[in-house]
Amino acid sequence: MNVNGVAAIVTGGGSGLGAATGRALAAAGARVALLDLNEGAAAAVAEEIGGLALPCDVADAASAEAAVARAATAHGPARILVNCAGVATAGRIVGRNGPLDLQAYAKVIQVNLIGSFNLMRLVAAGALALDPLEGGERGVIISTASIAAYEGQVGQAAYASSKAGIVGLTLPAAREFAPAGIRVCAIAPGIFETPMLRGLPQEVQDSLGAAVPFPSRLGKPEEYAKLALAIIDNSMLNGEVIRLDGGLRMQPK
Ligand SMILES: NC(=O)c1ccc[n+]([C@@H]2O[C@H](COP(=O)([O-])OP(=O)(O)OC[C@H]3O[C@@H](n4cnc5c(N)ncnc54)[C@H](O)[C@@H]3O)[C@@H](O)[C@H]2O)c1
Repeated sequence: MNVNGVAAIVTGGGSGLGAATGRALAAAGARVALLDLNEGAAAAVAEEIGGLALPCDVADAASAEAAVARAATAHGPARILVNCAGVATAGRIVGRNGPLDLQAYAKVIQVNLIGSFNLMRLVAAGALALDPLEGGERGVIISTASIAAYEGQVGQAAYASSKAGIVGLTLPAAREFAPAGIRVCAIAPGIFETPMLRGLPQEVQDSLGAAVPFPSRLGKPEEYAKLALAIIDNSMLNGEVIRLDGGLRMQPK
């Protein structure tokens, strides 16, 4: 799909991978709405790219419905969705203080998995009602998994299972929307240099980067954005989860 002039929604657009994707989409001519719990962060990126910042809790049905409706009023219904909103809470299933709080587990599933599904259902409903573009394409939906979906480490039970849910969601969604020309893919990043990672001490960042076979460094958010745009551009990519990790396979700990 040629993104020029097309309405796009990026969740988690105020930071990290979402902000980089919003910048790349806008540079390619898309009309970008950045949805984020952190409205101030989204507003700063939106101002820079001439986009729209909307407050949204992706885990909440009414909040997402309102944000998607406001984006449609400003830009028309979105044909592109990139789900980047996420949280990475760590914790053992049974830690020093006993079993993990069930709400802590549920929160990660709620934001990462249910939040991605929430936006998928709303954006797909809008795109289904649009006329097809050249080649019969109506939309492209990309969610963000993680290599933790396949190699979750000790302490990543909640995060890894939320991301495995994204992997499992991708094919049935692609199959369901195929007759309407809406493609669904996911990206499974390795370790990327975002505010979350930049908060770690430099030596920890260096050792994480050194574990990556090649290139031996953290991924750059722009490299994630490049893949998102490549997926949107290449109509043959559908129902697939693509690892973006420099060959990294995470160890148990
Ligand atoms: N950085 C990495 O190494 C890495 C690796 C694999 C996967 N990922 C995934 O990529 C995605 C983006 O991560 P990032 O590193 O850019 O993180 P980040 O913390 O820089 O950005 C995440 C954004 O999501 C927003 N957000 C959090 N909860 C929200 C909610 N309920 N509703 C709306 N917005 C919400 C935050 O405000 C923030 O702006 C996440 O899903 C993360 O799990 C990141």
